[in-house]
Amino acid sequence: MTRTFDPERREILKKAGVAGFGTIAAGLMLSGAARALTETLTPRQPEGPFYPVKDQLDKDADMTQVTGHEESATGQRVKLSGQVIDVTTGAAVVGAIVEFWQACESGRYNHPKDPNNAPLDPHFQYWAQVRSDQQGRFGLLTIKPGAYPADGTWIRPPHIHIKVHKPGYPSLTTQIYFAGDLLNNSDLILQRLSQDQRSLVIVDFKQNHLSDFWEGSWTIFVAPFVSGRLINDMQSTQITTPDLD
Ligand SMILES: [Fe+2]
Repeated sequence: MTRTFDPERREILKKAGVAGFGTIAAGLMLSGAARALTETLTPRQPEGPFYPVKDQLDKDADMTQVTGHEESATGQRVKLSGQVIDVTTGAAVVGAIVEFWQACESGRYNHPKDPNNAPLDPHFQYWAQVRSDQQGRFGLLTIKPGAYPADGTWIRPPHIHIKVHKPGYPSLTTQIYFAGDLLNNSDLILQRLSQDQRSLVIVDFKQNHLSDFWEGSWTIFVAPFVSGRLINDMQSTQITTPDLD
């Protein structure tokens, strides 16, 4: 499920006194408006231990193909169409850098500390960096990552890690999931979010019957630094997960 910008959200923000409309009072954190704000921004989620540590030449928007390789990645092709929106104005965020990193189809990260014994896919790119265009839009071609064991009986569902960077905005680290995956229901990270917050990070990928791709769209809702920092701090206090991915 993907939300689009709702002008009523701007009204909520206006009433709450954020983003140039005024100053946030300390008591706001306990108010209904504050709770509404935490349901409005794309929620933060843990970065996990597998953010890439070794730079790579190929970080383009096609993670299914490594430059110079004749073979392409193994797995279900997935196209993600995204947009970065400033939730305080509804305007597109132009020139945001959006990073993606994820496991390959087997559930293995290209990271030296991944304890998973599943094989690496030498033809998968693992990491991508894209820039939002004049409409705040970006695209990514990847594969559906595999699930993998996290701790004890906890199996992490297929998910993609994301970081968003834009001057004037706090950096956002989060993850997206595949709608309908049963492992979502027992994931200790996803389930720490409220139902509304979960709806902001679960993407409903649909099969394109004219190709072998699954396609989905996702909107990233951010807020400028001063107000966004406070709002995101509030969100962060709700997500005190262990350092697991
Ligand atoms: Fe992960």
